[in-house]
Amino acid sequence: STSEASSENVLVGVIGGSGLYHLDNLNFIEHVNPETPWGFPSSPIAICALPSGTRVAFLARHGVGHSITPSNVPARANIAALKSLGVRAVLAFSAVGSLREEIAPGDVVIPTQIIDRTKGVRPASFFDSSVVAHASFGDPFANRLVRWLEARVRTVLDEEAERIKSSEEERQPPKLHTDKCVVCMEGPQFSTRAESQLYRAWGGDIINMSVLPEAKLAREAELSYALIATATDYDAWRPHEASVTAAEVFKTLQTNAAISRHVAAAVLEALHEAAADGELLSEETGSMRFSIMPRS
Ligand code: ADE
Repeated sequence: STSEASSENVLVGVIGGSGLYHLDNLNFIEHVNPETPWGFPSSPIAICALPSGTRVAFLARHGVGHSITPSNVPARANIAALKSLGVRAVLAFSAVGSLREEIAPGDVVIPTQIIDRTKGVRPASFFDSSVVAHASFGDPFANRLVRWLEARVRTVLDEEAERIKSSEEERQPPKLHTDKCVVCMEGPQFSTRAESQLYRAWGGDIINMSVLPEAKLAREAELSYALIATATDYDAWRPHEASVTAAEVFKTLQTNAAISRHVAAAVLEALHEAAADGELLSEETGSMRFSIMPRS
């Protein structure tokens, strides 16, 4: 409806990962800090305006000062807080390690699958007391949203390649990789070489510490969720190379964050419109209807 499309409604939420603590290319309006039954989100949520006036919500997953370790991210509060603002679609960003030669540091990956290597210490469901529910998670990301994003992110990266080509910059333009599998490990230590090889053998393409339980909780909350991952390193699987260090990850975070901001600025207006229209997100909306077990 037209009222849903009004710029007063916040239909799109952005979750920023390591390096992306603000969307400072958007107009900041105010901070909101909704208390949920699962506590407060990682940090106050920044409500920002696009050039049209459309509002979006931005949440820094690790806190604005990066004070929250992956195992302690209050993912239930984060998803519940975004939901309480009226958010329907979540665009999540994350720094990832690459498990494949062709995915270079600086590249962008929009995955479609997840392997869960978290250790069961993160509360991963809203349904843990009296209501029993089993969400479908075979396709852990919102497929339609993912396909929609791929085309738009490709356009942004083509423009970026043109810009790099016509500048003095030496670096390789970032490539986009689609249909990839992200391994989510507990951390905070990085993987051993043996683990890194194992994840490659399992079909993992990239690795992070943050996509879970966020993606599971988004599904339970019927939010359409997609991940835009930016590679920072080659993890630990390359036999003649040093394994990943935090310093190596930090090196690419700044350029990656700049790309993430461009992507966000380029897609958010159209995503808000698509969210208001509903069709793009229709697979997730109502998806929990038959997931709650009837009491006998
Ligand atoms: N985040 C960035 N690089 C990573 C890696 N190699 N392993 C896990 N999480 C990461």
